Amino acid sequence: MRAVFFPQFRRGELCVRPLLKNTKVIPAAIEKWVLRNLGSIDHERRVTGIASRLFDLTWPFHGLGRVERRLLQMAAMVHDVGRCVDDRTHPQEGARMLLEADQLPLTSSERRSLAYLTRYHRGKPPEMGMDTILRRHDDHEAMRMALALLKSADALDSRVIESPRLMFELNGRRLHVTCLLENDTPKARKVYLRRKKHALMEEMMDCRIDVRVAPLATLKMAA
Ligand SMILES: [Fe+2]
Repeated sequence: MRAVFFPQFRRGELCVRPLLKNTKVIPAAIEKWVLRNLGSIDHERRVTGIASRLFDLTWPFHGLGRVERRLLQMAAMVHDVGRCVDDRTHPQEGARMLLEADQLPLTSSERRSLAYLTRYHRGKPPEMGMDTILRRHDDHEAMRMALALLKSADALDSRVIESPRLMFELNGRRLHVTCLLENDTPKARKVYLRRKKHALMEEMMDCRIDVRVAPLATLKMAA
C-alpha cells in the first residue's frame, strides 16, 4: 500500500456541504486552457471537488498518495476538454489535445496520466496494461484506481441538468451517496442512478456504492 498520505478520514462521515472548491493544486495555466476551450469550467470544478472527496473517503480502500490525488484533480479539470471538438468523441479528442499541448506545465509522465484518464473516463476501459498511452514503467494500477474515482465523480454531476447537493456516508465497505435535487425529475434519476458508472470503483476497491436521489426539500424539512 502506498501509505504516504493521510487525509482527514472519519468513518461514517456525513457530508452535506457543497463540493465546489479544492482546485488550488491545479496550475492556473491548465484551468485557463480548459476555460478557453470550453467557455466554462463550472462542471469541472464540481467534479474536482467530488473526486477529491471520494478520494479522501475511500482512502483506506485505494491507499493512493498525494501525487495521485493531484493527478486526479487535474484530470477532473481536463477530462471533458475534447467537447470543444466533438461531444461524441470527446474522450479521444481530449486525450489527443493533452498529448499535443506542449505549453501546459506538465511533465511527460503527468501528460500521459492525464491523457489516459481523459481517454477512458467514458466507456469500458481496456484491461490493465493494454492501453496505448501509459508506458511500461508507469503505475498502471494507480492510474486505474484514479480512473475509477474520476468515472464515479463525473457520474455524480452533470453539465446539462441540475447538479445535486451530495451527501456521503461510509459504512464498512459500503458508500452511500444521496443526490439532493430541487427538481427530482425522471430525467435526473436516469442520469444520477446509473449503476454501471461506479462499476470500476466497486471492482478496483472491493466496495459497494449505493446512490439514491431525494428532493432537496427533505433536507430543508429535517433542518
Ligand atoms: Fe464530465
